[in-house]
Amino acid sequence: MDLKQNIRSIPNWPIKGVIFRDLTTLMQDPNAFRYSCDIFYDRYKDKNLDKMVGIDARGFVFGAVLAYRLGIGFVPVRKKGKLPHKTIEQSYSLEYGEGILEMHEDAVTPGEKVVIVDDLIATGGTAGATVKLVKQLGADLLECAFVVELPDLKGREQILGCPVFSITEFE
Ligand code: PRP
Ligand code: HPA
Repeated sequence: MDLKQNIRSIPNWPIKGVIFRDLTTLMQDPNAFRYSCDIFYDRYKDKNLDKMVGIDARGFVFGAVLAYRLGIGFVPVRKKGKLPHKTIEQSYSLEYGEGILEMHEDAVTPGEKVVIVDDLIATGGTAGATVKLVKQLGADLLECAFVVELPDLKGREQILGCPVFSITEFE
C-alpha cells in the first residue's frame, strides 16, 4: 500500500513556506491506519518492549494502539504544562516554532526497553528532545519510529546514536 496517497498536503501551513503533511486523512482511512499500525506491530512484537513512548499529539494515536496490541504500557511525552506530577523537561525547536516537552519522572524506570513513536519526523527537534528525556531516565531506547520522514530536513541528524525507522518518506 502506498501510504502517501492517504496523506493530505497543505501548502503554507501553519506558516508560509511549509508544506504540511496532514496525517489525519491517513488515520481516518481504516485500511491505511490499520496497515500503518500493523507494520509497527510486526516490527516490535518480538522485541520484549516494556513501554511505548508517544509524542504529543499524534504520537499518542499510534503509540496507544501499539501499546494495547503489544500488551505493554503507554507513556505520553507532552507539551509543557499538561502533566500533573513531577516532570523532567527539554526545550526544542521545529520547522515552525519552538517549545518545551515534559515527561513524568517516574514514567519509565532505568533499564526499561522502550520505543518512541510519532506520526512524522521533520527537523528532528521534537524527537531529539524526546530521546534526551527518555535517556535521562535511564531507559533502554531501541529506536524511534515514524509513519513519515521528511529526509530533506535531515531529522535523523538530531538523534544520532538512536536508530530511526520510518514507514514512508516525502521529498
Ligand atoms: C509535529 C509532528 C511532530 C513534529 C515533527 O507536531 O507531529 O511531533 O511536529 O517536527 P520536527 O521533526 O521538526 O520536530 P507539532 O509540533 O506540530 O504538534 P501537534 O502534534 O501537537 O500538532
Ligand atoms: N506534518 C506534520 N508535522 C510536521 C510537519 C508536517 O509536514 N512538518 C513539521 N512537523
